[in-house]
Amino acid sequence: MWKGFSTPSPPSSVVLLSLTIVLSSLLPLAAAWRPWPQNNKMNATDYVFEDSKKFEGSSEFVKLRYHMGPVLTSRITAHTIWYGKWERSQKKIIRGFINSISATEVPRPSVAGWWRTVQQYTDQTGSNISRTVQLGEEKNDRFYSHGKSLTRLTIQSVIKSAITATTKPLPINPKSGLYLLLTADDVFVQDFCTSVCGFHYFTFPSLVGYTLPYAWVGNSAKLCPGQCAYPFAVPAFIPNRKPFKSPNGDVGVDGMISVIGHEIAELATNPLANTWYAGQDPTFPVEIADLCEGIYGTGGGGSYTGQVLDGGDGATYNMKGIRRRFLVQWVWSHVLNFCTGPNALDI
Ligand SMILES: *[C@@H]1O[C@H](CO)[C@@H](O)[C@H](O)[C@H]1NC(C)=O
Ligand SMILES: *[C@@H]1O[C@H](CO)[C@@H](O)[C@H](O)[C@H]1NC(C)=O
Repeated sequence: MWKGFSTPSPPSSVVLLSLTIVLSSLLPLAAAWRPWPQNNKMNATDYVFEDSKKFEGSSEFVKLRYHMGPVLTSRITAHTIWYGKWERSQKKIIRGFINSISATEVPRPSVAGWWRTVQQYTDQTGSNISRTVQLGEEKNDRFYSHGKSLTRLTIQSVIKSAITATTKPLPINPKSGLYLLLTADDVFVQDFCTSVCGFHYFTFPSLVGYTLPYAWVGNSAKLCPGQCAYPFAVPAFIPNRKPFKSPNGDVGVDGMISVIGHEIAELATNPLANTWYAGQDPTFPVEIADLCEGIYGTGGGGSYTGQVLDGGDGATYNMKGIRRRFLVQWVWSHVLNFCTGPNALDI
């Protein structure tokens, strides 16, 4: 069964058209959406909707370009760092998602189907992004080695500690490894909850000794579920909206899954911030998942997720993984020139 939010129902195209005109005359309307308190994160006039939006996120103004850098073409290995206190059940959900990326035997709509859009990106030699994403080594940083409030720089120190640990250090794999720092629900990270739920970058050789692509994603369950676990939690300033029931019974972690998907897709297509992105500003690139944030199904845009699936137990999801279901945002297809995902209805 397909479902979306019941209030408001997806607007008819006529309503959408006039709403879009009204809004775009007031402010540059970003295709990507999250319920930030002031909704002012994006100020990029490059990404306004056209007056008639035929496909999710599509716009003549989106100019996603290749900037000659590398993509991750060989078997991608995700090494996780569990920072702070994590339950076994929480780790299982996240491992289950990462393992599902390459699980092509899972029936549609699948996580592997979602990854196929990412695989369409190539480097200048024409090599596609790897179809394989596997779990690598894991490191537990149970005792908050760098405290409960991290900055972008101390995040790099956490990664350095993990790769230089005297017992079971994480392997150093700059070519096809990515490092996923996952912070527990009592950890604050710079800009968390006000403008980001996660981000990716690469480590600096001067700090860490190597250039390693990494991402941080935080569990927002205690700090800001209405922002970072939306639509499984809804902030008070959006009235009359019931949260969706999360598919794995953990609002914070189910909310993280979409952010982890977002960051892995961008790490694969833009690992060193010089490959695939839109916009003029390489210090504020708009990447393949940024363009589709908040879009989970056909018709999605603004606070409307688009058409998603109802699990029968009342849980909402849009793709299947190995023995689990997940709700993961779509990503931009440079072939189609709009956002797409495995549960798309109309193509
Ligand atoms: C957004 O754009 C407006 C108008 O161009 C500008 O005045 C404002 O400073 C910008 N805000 C940010 C956060 O860049
Ligand atoms: C590789 O990329 C090209 C160009 O985008 C695309 O046409 C092709 O389908 C991709 N191959 C795979 C296996 O995804």
